[in-house]
Amino acid sequence: MVDALGTIDLADPDSYVDGVPFAWFERLRHEHPVVWHPEPEPNAGFWAVTRYDDLTAVHMDWETFSSEIGAVGLEELDDEQLGIRKSMLETDPPRHTELRRICSKRFSARGVGVYEDWIREVARAVLDRALEPNEPFDFVAEISRELPIRFLCSIFTVPQKDAPQLISWGDKMIANQDPDLSAAVVDRVDTEAYRNFPFRSPVASDVFAYADRQRDQRLEEPADDVIQALVVAQSEGILDERAYHNYFALLMIAGNETTRHTISAGMLALMEHPEQLALLQAEPERIATAVEEILRWASPVMHFRRTATRDTELRGQTISAGDKVVTWYVSANRDEEIFPEPGRFDVTRSPNDHVTFGPGGPHFCLGAHLARLETKILFEELLPRLASVEPAGPVERIRSNFVNGIKRMPVRLRTH
Ligand code: HEM
Repeated sequence: MVDALGTIDLADPDSYVDGVPFAWFERLRHEHPVVWHPEPEPNAGFWAVTRYDDLTAVHMDWETFSSEIGAVGLEELDDEQLGIRKSMLETDPPRHTELRRICSKRFSARGVGVYEDWIREVARAVLDRALEPNEPFDFVAEISRELPIRFLCSIFTVPQKDAPQLISWGDKMIANQDPDLSAAVVDRVDTEAYRNFPFRSPVASDVFAYADRQRDQRLEEPADDVIQALVVAQSEGILDERAYHNYFALLMIAGNETTRHTISAGMLALMEHPEQLALLQAEPERIATAVEEILRWASPVMHFRRTATRDTELRGQTISAGDKVVTWYVSANRDEEIFPEPGRFDVTRSPNDHVTFGPGGPHFCLGAHLARLETKILFEELLPRLASVEPAGPVERIRSNFVNGIKRMPVRLRTH
């Protein structure tokens, strides 16, 4: 808990079960924009950075705020874990640049643009199937979850029949604080045996074994895909065995969960703001702009983190070398100094320089073009078909202090 503010506890996964505590973040931005936030043992606590400008300053200055000592979640890693679990997310330049280069072309605007027609075709097929029955159905299971995983199977060129398995592994790893999705809930059961796996998740060994099988296949018969790029990097000595595994797991998770949560959050926002939905249906050319507002609103990754490499100052606070610094995208995206009326969902908002993919700097989301394209196409295909849509039961959120995700969203939907 933050002593200065009494009840605020950003580290407790239960704080997010009923939705992001935006009122807490608003108070922090105004009263304690950079504040020391204690944490339960074994963690030492962190600086909570909640304003847009401060978050940007941290991410741009990677020499002062390093990713090498952990970037994902609040877990504090010892040297052994850091060595074993490191992916490009936990790596500073120049090594980071080398890692990123392995597949950056494939994720560029041009690289993903070639898939546009294919994505549209898949989006149509997903919608054809999901929209057929008129009874209530779970929007997450039938729609949001489908498109990102099918695309992942395509750029990995793995069989579409593996999609449910990949989804389940991804859920168990990233939702490692939700007993509904994972048995190894990190703050409730002993996960010491899995301490060297990403997200302390036992299923990581299954993911690694899957990655090995994929590599073996490509060594026999090369493919033109992302995994091939990783295999080549391994054969050139750029990736060792562990780095190959961690890269594979990173792409599998990052490319799947986050886009799913964006699509679900977008549909929920449009149901809650029917006038915005009507505007997009009347003027579909606005959908690209609307996607940016959906991304700002969704903020599926709530924070990333850095570690100070030297004593420094941020908004008048003295940060010591070795301190953990947590940058809250979900708060910066509602910073009233940047976004007028930040609590208003406005599909015409422009400019909309949200930090949902990070503010820039070396770690800016590799999959941003892809996530934007998938979300845009999904809504371009869905909205013209909708005669009406309404909630048909409570929205259930993932128990997590890291991912802002919807796990179930029953809807009743009528088509034209
Ligand atoms: C709406 C969907 C997505 C969101 C909200 C999201 C968010 C983020 C964020 C916040 C970061 C860290 C930025 C920083 O540290 O400044 C990141 C990095 C990354 N994202 Fe995404 N992401 C999404 C989709 C994707 C997709 C589709 C992929 C594709 C595989 C992907 C792959 C990655 C990778 C590999 C990194 C690490 C980049 C690096 O360390 O250089 N992401 N993402």
